Amino acid sequence: MDDWFKKCFLKDMIVLGIESSCDETAASVVTDKREILSNVILSQIEEHKIFGGVVPEIAARAHLEYIDNVVETAVKKAGISFADIDAVAGASGPGLIGGVLVGVMTSKAIASVLNKPYIAVNHLEGHALTARLTGDVEFPYLLLLVSGGHCQLLAVEGVGKYRQLGATIDDAAGEAFDKVAKMLKAGYPGGQSVEKLAINGDPKRFSFPRPLKNREGCDFSFSGLKTSVRRKIESMSDEPLASIVLNEQDKADFCASFQEAVCDTLIGRVKNAIKMFKESFPTGKTIVVAGGVAANTKLRESLVRLAEKENMEFAAPPLKLCTDNAAMIAWAGLERYRLGLVDGLDFKPRPRWALDPDAKGKK
Ligand code: KG4
Ligand code: ZN
Repeated sequence: MDDWFKKCFLKDMIVLGIESSCDETAASVVTDKREILSNVILSQIEEHKIFGGVVPEIAARAHLEYIDNVVETAVKKAGISFADIDAVAGASGPGLIGGVLVGVMTSKAIASVLNKPYIAVNHLEGHALTARLTGDVEFPYLLLLVSGGHCQLLAVEGVGKYRQLGATIDDAAGEAFDKVAKMLKAGYPGGQSVEKLAINGDPKRFSFPRPLKNREGCDFSFSGLKTSVRRKIESMSDEPLASIVLNEQDKADFCASFQEAVCDTLIGRVKNAIKMFKESFPTGKTIVVAGGVAANTKLRESLVRLAEKENMEFAAPPLKLCTDNAAMIAWAGLERYRLGLVDGLDFKPRPRWALDPDAKGKK
């Protein structure tokens, strides 16, 4: 009986996942029974905070320093030994190449020593498949992928099979949150800070544009919205933007009004995507949201309402699996491993790596 057959039918498959493509050094152990045995995430927030954004070289050095410890902790917390691991999945792009290289080299080294397969996971596929780790979501489904680097609508037909329906022509949704947070001196990281401040804000105080509203298709644009927020902040004072410090209520109102504009914009585009998705995949019944911005409660609530109206089901990973983590990498690796999709140790890390190879140019 070969090893693969035994794993499939007799014993849990166990995959170690490693994530290091941005500013989280993470490792996780996941089984094919959808158990997350460990999920260790070392955030580099403190390292990048003073710069108001991720500094790639600092991130790469920090990954290098922490990764061995993070992996060892994940294996220990999972209550297994390295010998129990069936495959090693490493986020192998897209992302900041210095960090990606650290994760790829670590994953390959462990796979090679254990004589087990290495699986090169697309970080975006990690986000895209998380809802299948945490819930019963069947292919095909419609995915809104909203993170710091990407904003896309995709039909997910299967593992490794994505059709991009729309994407951003400028900033990603998370990027817009981060930039607006910086303008408002709202705190870092941006998305969570804006959401927190928005709780006490008036979403109707400032009227911001809803880019591409009522236009065909489901591409996104956020740069006009961002500029509109900047102009409004500048109109509140004679000082240059960098010196303007708003009072807490003004800040909260800005955050609430901006968050509402982003949610309205995303929902408008998802509505169009649902039409496109239903035409091509009449059996598809689920809308999934993933990526860091999927942790936003207002967005999740708006999507629940939209799904109800459209007679569709809605699925989203729990908040801590929306932002970057290695459980999603381990799970995507496991889904690939089950299909025999493993990679050679000569796999070259990919700083750019689209889920749909036919969709180029947008992010
Ligand atoms: O997926 P992720 O952790 O990293 C990337 O792959 O980019 O996403 C990070 C992004 C950041 O832009 C962050 O500001 C945003 O997700 N984010 C949020 C929230 N939590 C994280 N945006 C809005 N509301 C949140 N609660
Ligand atoms: Zn991500």
